[in-house]
Amino acid sequence: MKIVLVGFMGSGKSTVGELLSEKLSIPFVDLDSVIVERIGLSIPQIFKKEGEAFFREKEREFLIEELKKRSDFILSTGGGAPAYRDNMEVINSSATSVFLHADFETLYGRISGDRNRPLASLDREKLRELYLKRLPFYRKAHFTVDTSGKSPNEVVNEIISLLNGGRGKSSL
Ligand code: S3P
Repeated sequence: MKIVLVGFMGSGKSTVGELLSEKLSIPFVDLDSVIVERIGLSIPQIFKKEGEAFFREKEREFLIEELKKRSDFILSTGGGAPAYRDNMEVINSSATSVFLHADFETLYGRISGDRNRPLASLDREKLRELYLKRLPFYRKAHFTVDTSGKSPNEVVNEIISLLNGGRGKSSL
């Protein structure tokens, strides 16, 4: 089973992805970590030295590679990946995608001032614009889970239930 988690920065893709991977015994891959390993620089360093356009092209290249590499994985993507070129179509044609939805204020509270996220240093209004601009891309996902007020464990159980056609018990 190939599952791709999408959503804005701070939506819990990595936390939920790791937990889901444990529960389903499917390997977890974090696309940001793949980029950092392959380029040999941290994300803020890549943005600073090479620029965002370079980052987006590498992100797309590694995304396509990761989607082809294994038959089973939980892949968490960076918040900007679904909104670049036709990445969302690429994701949807080779995996089951899940959008982790949260309202902007919740996300802003989690990410503002995070030095590991170059775009989190944008001011509140610019970040809100980015969030609104990206929502239609995230909405293309096969499934949406509203994460508001839910623990990572509850979100994971909901994803499993959705993947099972709403029956709740895992037959994956
Ligand atoms: C980005 C989100 C980050 C990371 C990079 C750019 C974005 O990933 O890919 O900082 O454009 O939203 P997370 O969503 O895991 O924070």
